[in-house]
Amino acid sequence: MDALSFRVKAIERLSKNSQLAYAQAEHIHKEVLKPGGHWTPEECAARQRVAMVVPYRNREDHLRIFVSYMHRFMQAQYLEYQIFVVEQASPDVFNRAALMNIGFLEALKLHDFDCFIFHDVDLLPLDTRQPYTCFQAPTHLGAYMSKFSYQMPYDGFFGGAVALSTENIKQMNGFSNLFYGWGGEDDDTLNRVLWRNLTVHRHAQDIGKSYMIKHEKDEGNPTNPNRGIGHEMKPDQYNRNGINSIKYIKQSTDLNVLYTRVLVSIGEN
Ligand code: UDP
Ligand code: BGC
Ligand code: MN
Repeated sequence: MDALSFRVKAIERLSKNSQLAYAQAEHIHKEVLKPGGHWTPEECAARQRVAMVVPYRNREDHLRIFVSYMHRFMQAQYLEYQIFVVEQASPDVFNRAALMNIGFLEALKLHDFDCFIFHDVDLLPLDTRQPYTCFQAPTHLGAYMSKFSYQMPYDGFFGGAVALSTENIKQMNGFSNLFYGWGGEDDDTLNRVLWRNLTVHRHAQDIGKSYMIKHEKDEGNPTNPNRGIGHEMKPDQYNRNGINSIKYIKQSTDLNVLYTRVLVSIGEN
């Protein structure tokens, strides 16, 4: 069996009993994590403080798998990091990019992060050689997914997982708050990157592969009929719609052993 199939098998095994995997991960990591799933290497000074932000609703099984897996992955890279799960309490229709904006703002209230990784809950990187840090250029970490046979589905694909420095996020005014339902928000994010004359970095395909846990389409996340506007450049809209305009109410913040859970209601944007 090659290394890739071996890792995929390991994930499938872990997925069969995610509650056990989660309990084990809590047990293994609780001594070394600060509340809310925050880790700092002891043997060296980490180069970056990384906030991993996961837009989330109603995927408990995936969430258990994700956090059980991710701590080991991040610690292997000797990074200072904290996992934030930003959960949408309302409205009914899911808004992934708005949750990412909220995660950015809420994480910075807790700690001085200089790098953000925005990550789907069902996606697991397969190779610890892929750096989960920020670079000068916005970096696409989810480029080669199992869902698309480990190929980019199209040239401007920017979905699944991206790493953006705090500075880059501010330049881009974060993400759009206007994409309700599935699709398009990641295309809009790429346009914000290009709007600021930034380039996109992707790691080589052999270390950049990730596994997407198979799932059905979620209730409350219907395909957005307007997702195509994510491909259009609208610079004046970027200035008006993003981290500077998001309306939300924070319901609670829970510092769990393995992650920080922020429950939010998104306002009318
Ligand atoms: N998501 C979620 N609950 C939902 C819909 C989406 O938590 O009801 C989050 C989750 O992190 C997921 C991401 O949004 O991985 C992207 O959605 P989805 O997995 O449906 O997109 P696709 O599989 O097409 O990439
Ligand atoms: C959507 C993106 C999505 C991609 C791959 C595109 O049509 O606009 O949001 O990530 O398909 O599924
Ligand atoms: Mn998915």
